[in-house]
Amino acid sequence: KRVVLAYSGGLDTSCILVWLQEQGYEVIAFMANLGQEEDFDAARDKANKLGAKEVIVQDLRRSLVEDYVWPAVQGDLIYEDRYLLGTALARPCITRGMIDTARRHQAGYISHGATGKGNDQIRFELGCYALSPDIKIIAPWKDPSFYRRFPGRKELFDYAKLHGIPLPVTPKAPWSIDANLVHVSYESGILENPATHPPCGIYEMTTDPEKAPDVPQMLTLTFQNGIPTAVSVAGDATKVVDCLEIFNAVNRVGAQHGVGRVDIVENRFIGLKSRGLYETPGLTILRAAHLDLEALCMDREVRKIKAHLSTKMAEQVYNGLWYSPEFEFTRKCIADCQKVVTGSVTLKVYKGNVYIQGRSAPVSLYNEELVSMDTQGDYEPSDAHGFIRINAVRLREYQRVKNALDKL
Ligand code: ARG
Ligand code: SIN
Repeated sequence: KRVVLAYSGGLDTSCILVWLQEQGYEVIAFMANLGQEEDFDAARDKANKLGAKEVIVQDLRRSLVEDYVWPAVQGDLIYEDRYLLGTALARPCITRGMIDTARRHQAGYISHGATGKGNDQIRFELGCYALSPDIKIIAPWKDPSFYRRFPGRKELFDYAKLHGIPLPVTPKAPWSIDANLVHVSYESGILENPATHPPCGIYEMTTDPEKAPDVPQMLTLTFQNGIPTAVSVAGDATKVVDCLEIFNAVNRVGAQHGVGRVDIVENRFIGLKSRGLYETPGLTILRAAHLDLEALCMDREVRKIKAHLSTKMAEQVYNGLWYSPEFEFTRKCIADCQKVVTGSVTLKVYKGNVYIQGRSAPVSLYNEELVSMDTQGDYEPSDAHGFIRINAVRLREYQRVKNALDKL
């Protein structure tokens, strides 16, 4: 019996690694390099010492950006108006890596350390079933023989000591963190009381906007078919064109200037409300730029339908439905409307804010001559009389009825 475990190097998944072996499994520890700050070599050593049959560290940064973040940029994805889905986008990327690993190593089982109350369990498990219908899932935090044995941290610590699992040298932060190149998220622990203010120094990725540079930073982003293809950061002569480097460059500017911090209460798929803090510097800037270019290039009515699809697509990503027919459908529709979203946007980033400065497109529906107050162009102003009078028909009728009702 062979299992691929999503391993983080932390106490929980280290205990799970040992516990799975006790249950008679051969364990392949899987770690995804998604650009998070992490000592992968130390984690690899640790997993090896704890008896992992194999430790796999897969560099999925490029795939995360190209296959998951770029579609999110095209879709302007945002969940419940504020969450840019940094964790939700990474889960299907990790899941694909784990399923590939399971295939290569003939493992019939996948295991993870997500709790039974969250979204991540759903994203991992739905993704696994979709990509590999016969796969079996071992979710210790939903398995009574595991969670009855480990009702609290104390039992985990005792188990760790007993099995030579190194205990964390620094005391665990009193909240849970999930980090990748897109964002860092913080929830649970002392954050569970939604009235608690974010503790000073909690944010790891971004500068406090109050301490950000006093000089703004300008940058220009170029998109082709709604996908970022270049960025130029003012004061830096090189134009960046590689997808991962584009994302990292925008992230650096955002992080330095304190962009993208939010503190929200959100609705989990499972039906619980949870409070979380997020910092998403680069994607916040990319989304602002992309929305602006869409406004320049996209037809008004297409844009309305797109906005509706965008809400659906964000919900599908949040709910772990990346590998679903409905997601494939919305994603294709959105990609189709992106054919016109080609051009550049210049922005100014300053103390946590993003200010659009200007935009341009080689081809767009924006017709300067047609809209100008200074020239007539191919447009007959007197036609507008008729347009307005026809639109007024309905309003006049409405007043007539209101007056008649008042007199009844
Ligand atoms: N609430 C966010 C989401 O559902 C973040 C979850 C963070 N996960 C974690 N293990 N801390 O996408
Ligand atoms: C967890 O429950 O493991 C993390 C939070 C979530 O998945 O929503």
